[in-house]
Amino acid sequence: MFEAHQHARMLADATRLTAFHDAMAEVVADGDRVLDAGAGTGILAAMASRLTSGTVVAVEYLEDTAAFAAQALRDSRLDRVEVVRGNAVEADIGTPPDVVVSETIGSLGPEENIVGLTHALRRRYPGIRAFVPSRLRVLAEPVVSAEAAALRTSVIGAFTREQPGGISFATVLPRAEHALGGQIITARLTDTTPAGPARSLVEYDLGTTPDADFSRTLSLGDSPANAVHLYFEAPLSPTVTLSSHRGAEFTHWGHSYIVRPPGASTVTIAYRNADRRFTCHWDRPAESD
Ligand SMILES: C[S@@+](CC[C@H](N)C(=O)[O-])C[C@H]1O[C@@H](n2cnc3c(N)ncnc32)[C@H](O)[C@@H]1O
Repeated sequence: MFEAHQHARMLADATRLTAFHDAMAEVVADGDRVLDAGAGTGILAAMASRLTSGTVVAVEYLEDTAAFAAQALRDSRLDRVEVVRGNAVEADIGTPPDVVVSETIGSLGPEENIVGLTHALRRRYPGIRAFVPSRLRVLAEPVVSAEAAALRTSVIGAFTREQPGGISFATVLPRAEHALGGQIITARLTDTTPAGPARSLVEYDLGTTPDADFSRTLSLGDSPANAVHLYFEAPLSPTVTLSSHRGAEFTHWGHSYIVRPPGASTVTIAYRNADRRFTCHWDRPAESD
């Protein structure tokens, strides 16, 4: 099924589209053959076709989505964009591309497999001159956040107020606090300030890094942070970087954070590509079980 709602959000994200447009204008030379790996509606392929007299190949593995893009491109008379349904890594696209553009960036960066995808494309087409984006970093910034405080108050409130049926969550409240700390929340952070330096959790050189997995432990020490803001930075070209940091222009990726449980001072943040997900484990004060 064509995911109209998700694609509409991506089409409405002007920050994202402007960043990709400006980066491609910098990277794509006239005559280049461009591969849009994970083409969706074909929006990036359409923009790329204005920048080169070469062919743009838009590869999309979902059938309905590929058909949607193909008709829109055809009806828009963007004849130099060729839509191929299939996995961008395996599809038959004829002549190798000069430039690969891929907006397969997950909520925190790697969850849509951009690292594995670009690595496999580089192996298949060693002559690729540039990837857009070229790199991807995931970072963590300790923060004092009014939004995180309000979320924690509302979650803890649900477990401390009187509930029907006579059940009390008093003894398991620390478990709820700890579980909340393991959940990545996405919101809009406006009343949030830094409480320590941002730290890079991982940096991928797209096309070269083979594997997205990582695990990093952060110590908050005596920082007053009540949350950790998690975000990505994706340099799309030498001068354009897309970021989901709370201080950057807002995008449909939103602002992600984790809430610090009371008394916890270290958190281990890990990503496993096999699961396509992040895990966040805080150290547990002794009495919390
Ligand atoms: C985040 S959307 C972006 C779509 C479009 N490029 C845009 O910027 O609006 C990613 C798209 O890539 C497709 N996709 C992800 N991995 C792919 C792969 N390996 N081969 C082909 N399509 C892929 C998904 O089905 C989805 O439609």
